[in-house]
Amino acid sequence: MKFKTIEWKGDWVRILDQRKLPQEIHYLDCRDASSVAQAIRTMAIRGAPAIGVAAAMGIALAAKKNQSSQLGTFRKNLEKVCHEMRQTRPTAVNLFWAVDRMMRILNQIHAYGVEKTKAKLVEEALRIYKEDVEINQKIGGYGKRLIKNGDGVLTHCNAGALATAGYGTALGVIYAAWAEGKRFCVFTDETRPQLQGARLTAWELVQEKIPVTVITDNMAGWLMEKGQINLVLVGADRIARNGDTANKIGTYSLAVLSKWHGIPFYVAAPSSTLDLSLPSGLDIPIEERDIKEVTHFRGNPITPKGVNAFNPAFDVTPHSLIHAIITEKGLIRGPFERKLKRIKA
Ligand code: MRU
Repeated sequence: MKFKTIEWKGDWVRILDQRKLPQEIHYLDCRDASSVAQAIRTMAIRGAPAIGVAAAMGIALAAKKNQSSQLGTFRKNLEKVCHEMRQTRPTAVNLFWAVDRMMRILNQIHAYGVEKTKAKLVEEALRIYKEDVEINQKIGGYGKRLIKNGDGVLTHCNAGALATAGYGTALGVIYAAWAEGKRFCVFTDETRPQLQGARLTAWELVQEKIPVTVITDNMAGWLMEKGQINLVLVGADRIARNGDTANKIGTYSLAVLSKWHGIPFYVAAPSSTLDLSLPSGLDIPIEERDIKEVTHFRGNPITPKGVNAFNPAFDVTPHSLIHAIITEKGLIRGPFERKLKRIKA
């Protein structure tokens, strides 16, 4: 990749500000945990695996900068930072998974003492980053065989390098198939209201010189009807035990359309996106964001003053609409529950 979504700089965390893409390439240098939390909350960085990495790096930064040599005070401060990270966004489970990993290190502070715990927290954050890069490669490796020469591949939102530490999950599959010499057409939904497809997925693919066609969200069904789409590939924010999958709002509609048109619908996700504590998608918390994202476009109102709006950021696709989940441990087809448990073990 020609850009870095997030980078550990020792005394600060550098984040590519995705709110400004594709017009401007601007980096945020976050020098404390609160500015990392703010970057997650305001979606300067977004995408399930990327916000997990960001939260871990934010906690590592807080540990490094903590002046206290007193075990109890150090621990209390760090617990507060973990709590702050958990409050940033509710749906992507990777965030909570990463904070839990950092908490497990913190919980060993009595054995290690303050200085060693600091070093271990930094190591853990960097490990989470590195693992994600490798996981992306494996997902790409397993998924690439699903794409054939001449296919039309539709994706939604952004599940690429901007959403992970590596080259992405759903887009990773596209990158891997392209690198093998396969040639196919990529379509991306613009993904209202935040336009992750039009702004981010299109930008990434253009950087990598992979031709991409942007469509508005309401065009997907017609393209399918016209025979231009052979498969749909999306990422995930949280997958429940039965395979029900939360992803960017609009994913569910695509899955229903795919079923109607007999088109395979694939989810690509690392095992850190699995939440086996939830029996089904009914229990997945769905983030609701400011209605201004719907009523305004780039700061300008597009609806009459005072009108009501609704802005759920995610929806849940029932497992019965999912052909397969592509993970770093292989391709899983339904029934999912037993297989997902094995993958997480
Ligand atoms: O609100 P966002 O932009 O964080 O939503 C991102 C998505 O829905 C992605 O598809 C998902 O996180 C998978 S990223 C590999």
